[in-house]
Amino acid sequence: MVTEIDAPGSDDRLVVSGAAKSYGRPGAQRPALADVDFSMNRGQFVSIIGPSGCGKSTLLRLMAGLEHPDTGSVSIFGSTPAEASAAKMIGFMPQVPALLPWLSVLENVRIPLKVNRRADARRRELPGHRPPGTADPVALLTELGLADSVRALPHQLSGGMQQRVAIARAFATQADVLLMDEPFSALDEFTREATQDQLLKLWQKLVTTVVFVTHSVSEAVVLSDTVVVMSPRPGRIAAVVPIDVPRPRRHGLVEAKVLHDYQDLIRSKLQSAGVSSS
Ligand SMILES: Nc1ncnc2c1ncn2[C@@H]1O[C@H](COP(=O)(O)OP(=O)(O)O)[C@@H](O)[C@H]1O
Ligand SMILES: [Mg+2]
Repeated sequence: MVTEIDAPGSDDRLVVSGAAKSYGRPGAQRPALADVDFSMNRGQFVSIIGPSGCGKSTLLRLMAGLEHPDTGSVSIFGSTPAEASAAKMIGFMPQVPALLPWLSVLENVRIPLKVNRRADARRRELPGHRPPGTADPVALLTELGLADSVRALPHQLSGGMQQRVAIARAFATQADVLLMDEPFSALDEFTREATQDQLLKLWQKLVTTVVFVTHSVSEAVVLSDTVVVMSPRPGRIAAVVPIDVPRPRRHGLVEAKVLHDYQDLIRSKLQSAGVSSS
């Protein structure tokens, strides 16, 4: 059964069907993911939440085409992850910013625009892509509050600023889908909230599809249209929770109460999935 997160539409969905993945030598294999089915629509912001080791990064790597499922399949708007990735339809943002230390902030954001220039031609040939384009790196950095730092080197920036450079870089190619693996887990709470808000602004402005891995319940609730709850050993989808709260969130007391209720709901889903604390 495919867990429909929203109404279907042929090439406009990201679909994972019956995906399983094990690691280890033959005979001593340990399953990391089992029977993962889910589907989301273009333009959605979906978070995947679950305890450490439940297979969140593995699932994201399957979507990015960095690894292949043992069984099952992944479709990125009608293309395989390998095709989508070669055509720069996919942006991947790891947990650490991974900036090149000898390049300026601006040059770091420009990297994906310089490599693999043939990708635009590939993208035009695929179904379900959006027109290849780029977002202006200086405009992106300005949007993220880094206008004064475009010439700086990464080591001259705080961790939060470096993470924002990585966000700008991820948006620069106007990828169809951004896969983000716990990108804010190293940030302090205030920096984290500001960076979350900036991410949401760009997501809305540039109409991107985001799959966001986190182990923070409050982060998942404030950011997402839908939260996918995973259970551990092996990783499965335990629940899919739509967050029906208008944006921008984090406003008044009423919103705070509603968001809090959603957090409680997701904690209870995690608990019934066998997660002791989160
Ligand atoms: N390359 C790998 N080789 C062997 N085991 C792996 C590898 N990647 C992940 N695993 C195992 O798969 C499980 C899921 O890992 P991961 O996807 O990183 O979980 P999460 O991101 O939720 O913390 C863990 O038990 C982990 O040890
Ligand atoms: Mg991980």
